[in-house]
Amino acid sequence: MSSPTVHSNISSSHAFSQVDIDLGDRSYPIQIGGHLLEGLNGNPALPKATSAFIVTNETVAPLYADKLKQSIASHYKNVHTVVLPDGEEYKTWQTLQKIFDALLENGADRKAVLFALGGGVIGDMTGFAAASYMRGVPFVQVPTTLLSQVDSSVGGKTAINHPLGKNMIGAFYQPQLVVCDLDTLDTLPARELAAGIGEIIKYGPIYDMEFFSWLEENMDALLQRDRAALAHAVKRSCEIKAWVVSQDERESGLRAILNFGHTFGHAIEAGMGYGAWLHGEGVAAGMVMAAELSKRLGLVDEAFVLRLRRLIERAGLPVRGPRIDADDNAGRYLKLMRIDKKSEAGEIRFVLIDGPGKAIMRPAPDALVREVIDANCD
Ligand code: NAD
Ligand code: GLY
Repeated sequence: MSSPTVHSNISSSHAFSQVDIDLGDRSYPIQIGGHLLEGLNGNPALPKATSAFIVTNETVAPLYADKLKQSIASHYKNVHTVVLPDGEEYKTWQTLQKIFDALLENGADRKAVLFALGGGVIGDMTGFAAASYMRGVPFVQVPTTLLSQVDSSVGGKTAINHPLGKNMIGAFYQPQLVVCDLDTLDTLPARELAAGIGEIIKYGPIYDMEFFSWLEENMDALLQRDRAALAHAVKRSCEIKAWVVSQDERESGLRAILNFGHTFGHAIEAGMGYGAWLHGEGVAAGMVMAAELSKRLGLVDEAFVLRLRRLIERAGLPVRGPRIDADDNAGRYLKLMRIDKKSEAGEIRFVLIDGPGKAIMRPAPDALVREVIDANCD
């Protein structure tokens, strides 16, 4: 099986690298570097279309929408900007409808292209809009959070939330280009940067413990937004994700390993109310619980769990989950986790670590899961 193609030139602050995701006629490049947002004019990877719609939110629009608009203006007859409310709690049908309203009101036809400018919430919703508008129009991911650059913009999972479950309604639909401009990370709040580091950490235990060691050595540099450290972390994360997705685009098996920590994490997000805990925070506490469960099943030792917990703590992320029910906390976690997309006939299938660097999927006895939740929630 081939690994993703990597073109790299990371040596200066504006260095550029590219990871190619190999999906036959749906292959696309992930471009990583500085000054990319304003440098798209003439980029041969831009989809050909008549009109372009930049979908963004009220936080990101004042920072970057005009820059992107000017940069792509010469490629399209007209460029519109659609500004949505900001927040996970707006990842809903109602907000999706606002995208369709704007497309129809501005006469978007099948020759339109959507640009998702923002974090994972904007990327997931814009991707879903692109998948379903007129049965599919092209889209470009322009991720502006660390989390979206290392994970959500790559691989074609698009979705909105349902009050009963996270990302329950959506489609697999690949973008035609991903542009990760590292400059946009300069304006990201520290809490959001840490949340992105949560999704980066997961790539270690599931696939690459060498990368995990690198993260241990470079955590301070990442938190200080050192450009070379960020560039490496984004590139290595995209390489791993690109490889996994190119093996199993629709998650019939292998791709599920990317959900390490997510079964517990999604229960935290839904249980606390969307937006209260950031996605990366839920994943962080969820990874500790999943590692604890792996240990109790005899798959990893205590030293590994401690090492993972220490790195998550150093990133400033939570290592314990919140109480989401005053009477039966573990019961509520279990109820929410049964709605997980990986569940089969109501049986929860956990992503567990079968020795550092290797993930497996398997069910676990409810009693053991309850023990883990009780021991790892405040
Ligand atoms: P987000 O999209 O809510 O962005 C976080 C916050 O940062 C928002 O307030 C946003 O407006 C702001 N922001 C974005 N870019 C900024 C910038 N450059 N400067 C200042 N502020 C900026 O959250 P996220 O962490 O990017 O994404 C989380 C979402 O991604 C969740 O909904 C999760 O389910 C989804 N996700 C999807 C996948 C996938 O494969 N599709 C993978 C992981 C996560
Ligand atoms: N973030 C999990 C996936 O893309 O499969």
